[in-house]
Amino acid sequence: MITVPVPLGGGRGYDVLVGPGARHRLLEVLPVGAHRAAVVTQPGVDVVVDAGVEQRTFLMPEGEEAKCLETVEELCRAWARWGLTRADVVVAVGGGVVTDAAGFAAAVYHRGVAVVHVPTTLLGQVDAAIGGKTGVNLPEGKNLVGAFWQPSAVLCDVDVLATLPPREYRSGLGEMAKYAFLGVHDLPDLPLDEAVAACVRCKAEHIAADERETTGRRALLNYGHTLAHALETAGHYDLRHGEAVAIGLVFAARLARRLGRVDDGTVAEHERVVAGYGLPATVPAGHDPAELVTLMARDKKAVDGLTFVLDGPRGVEVVAGVPPDVVEATLRERS
Ligand SMILES: NC(=O)c1ccc[n+]([C@@H]2O[C@H](COP(=O)([O-])OP(=O)(O)OC[C@H]3O[C@@H](n4cnc5c(N)ncnc54)[C@H](O)[C@@H]3O)[C@@H](O)[C@H]2O)c1
Repeated sequence: MITVPVPLGGGRGYDVLVGPGARHRLLEVLPVGAHRAAVVTQPGVDVVVDAGVEQRTFLMPEGEEAKCLETVEELCRAWARWGLTRADVVVAVGGGVVTDAAGFAAAVYHRGVAVVHVPTTLLGQVDAAIGGKTGVNLPEGKNLVGAFWQPSAVLCDVDVLATLPPREYRSGLGEMAKYAFLGVHDLPDLPLDEAVAACVRCKAEHIAADERETTGRRALLNYGHTLAHALETAGHYDLRHGEAVAIGLVFAARLARRLGRVDDGTVAEHERVVAGYGLPATVPAGHDPAELVTLMARDKKAVDGLTFVLDGPRGVEVVAGVPPDVVEATLRERS
């Protein structure tokens, strides 16, 4: 088992356990004194956990549409009927949809109850379950309501990934591709548990440096995400998150080239990494570039005009005030 610590300020922090069978370590990572465990999962997630204390399972619906305020209300009401208290723990077992929504419900129920994440998708293990960003979507956009709520522990059991549909697995590779541009090398050559742990370690470093995304370091984890979120909203989530990120990564490289920040070689490298994972690199036909620009302007990072994470001479950094016509022209590029 690989243990990756996530150190936070003020002596806080937690461990991420990565490896085969990690879900069986649940009892030992429960917060001290936890009486009962509210296990939140979905019908399609066939992963059993044993908290070793009294537990009850609360099912939430499938799909990105289920990551909404109504689900949070349903969970909180069901927990209230069961009598969940702050001395108890929520255990989120599922992909990013479950850990984001259940994590947010845990953040606001009784003004905060402990949560342990057991991510069951590759995307959840390398990204969504790590770092304490929780939240839900609004019809107006993705992740517009949320809270920072750090888990007590995260258990990344690579065994459970065996049942993932191939498209979901590939989607996780989209977030993995992102880490390749944030300094994690040789990911495709590593055994799965080590590759997951390498991504978690990279994310942990960014979070330790900037837990609440105030200095800009953590925002680098959003590489490829500005366009990705717009594509997901415009397409009503017909793309999987990691597919959208893959397109967003290549787009970010092309935008950086148009702005004179990188050369053709950098764009080619982005295309090579994304293609190597069998992921798409171009915006699917039918999207209106002007609509995508409008959606990107609504992004949470867009405090000063259009804001992107872009590669450049100083490496990957947050760039504000990117002119909309340059963004739109890049979207219209064919290659
Ligand atoms: N909080 C963060 O920092 C963060 C980071 C990245 C992504 N996210 C969010 O994560 C979400 C996407 O997560 P996702 O890609 O995991 O999608 P998902 O949670 O919808 O899971 C994908 C599908 O796989 C099924 N599934 C899950 N585990 C399975 C298993 N072991 N075997 C078989 N099927 C299984 C689920 O039931 C679901 O149908 C998005 O909403 C995204 O915004 C959050």
